[in-house]
Amino acid sequence: MPPTPTAPRRALVTGGLSGLGLAIVTALAARGDQVMATDLAQTPPSGVLPAGVVYRPLDVRSDADWAAAREAVERDWGGLDLLVNNAGIAAGGRIDVAEMSEWEAIVAVNLLGVARGCRTFTPGFKRQQSGTIVNIASLAGLTQAPAMGAYNAAKAGVVALSETLRHELEPHGIRVSVVCPSFLRTNLAASLRGADALAEAGKERYLTRAKRTPEVVAARVLQGLDAGRYLILTDREGRVAYWAKRFAPPLYRRAMAAPGRRMAAIERKGGANR
Ligand SMILES: NC(=O)c1ccc[n+]([C@@H]2O[C@H](COP(=O)([O-])OP(=O)(O)OC[C@H]3O[C@@H](n4cnc5c(N)ncnc54)[C@H](O)[C@@H]3O)[C@@H](O)[C@H]2O)c1
Repeated sequence: MPPTPTAPRRALVTGGLSGLGLAIVTALAARGDQVMATDLAQTPPSGVLPAGVVYRPLDVRSDADWAAAREAVERDWGGLDLLVNNAGIAAGGRIDVAEMSEWEAIVAVNLLGVARGCRTFTPGFKRQQSGTIVNIASLAGLTQAPAMGAYNAAKAGVVALSETLRHELEPHGIRVSVVCPSFLRTNLAASLRGADALAEAGKERYLTRAKRTPEVVAARVLQGLDAGRYLILTDREGRVAYWAKRFAPPLYRRAMAAPGRRMAAIERKGGANR
């Protein structure tokens, strides 16, 4: 397929009021795209979105919200060119500590929210014989650290769905990309509220101490799209981990097993919350 054109596009971004979503909204608007930012809030806090960006509430778990968003872009823009499934929540937890309700919550947003978005806009993309779906997964979808079962599984699901749709939708002129960033500094830690305080404390540290900004990652997402890349690895850590898993499995295994051993040692000494 030829590279994605950089001409102005009609774009919808989920989770567009914070972190990576907001940075993608801002980057797309800056290059002249028509952008609809969506998120949970009924109205966006003033001054957050760049001028010209349209906002609508859209809970990615709601079929009715998705249908209303599709009607809005069809009515106001005559269609859509770019769907960015970005909305997500965080979770960390050992398998015997995290509650099933946490699994259900994370799968509902991080995996089924993406599936709903793809289902909503694929018919229009098929009619146009064009369109781009960008799914924001995570490095966690490619390389699996311990005590993050629900998050890892949901993000690996997003990678699997993206690859499936890449093969399924390419004949219809529809491009699919999946983005797998390592930790970046956003508000994601605020959504950690699970039962496994030990595992979540570790994840919170990584999230709050991350140096990479959403703006840098958003710029790499757009570069990846313009280059027509399917798998967009936005940082060095991600590339190293991904290639180590493929070409140096023992090294990868050692790196991934180490935090599991540390957590088990704390648990044996009775320092964990279970
Ligand atoms: N921050 C990281 O280190 C990191 C790393 C890899 C991947 N990601 C992924 O990047 C994406 C964006 O996360 P972020 O880090 O910018 O976090 P963030 O918390 O700053 O932004 C996430 C946005 O999603 C919205 N959201 C949550 N649930 C929603 C729902 N049901 N419907 C609609 N919107 C909803 C939130 O309101 C928020 O505005 C997520 O999919 C996340 O898993 C983040």
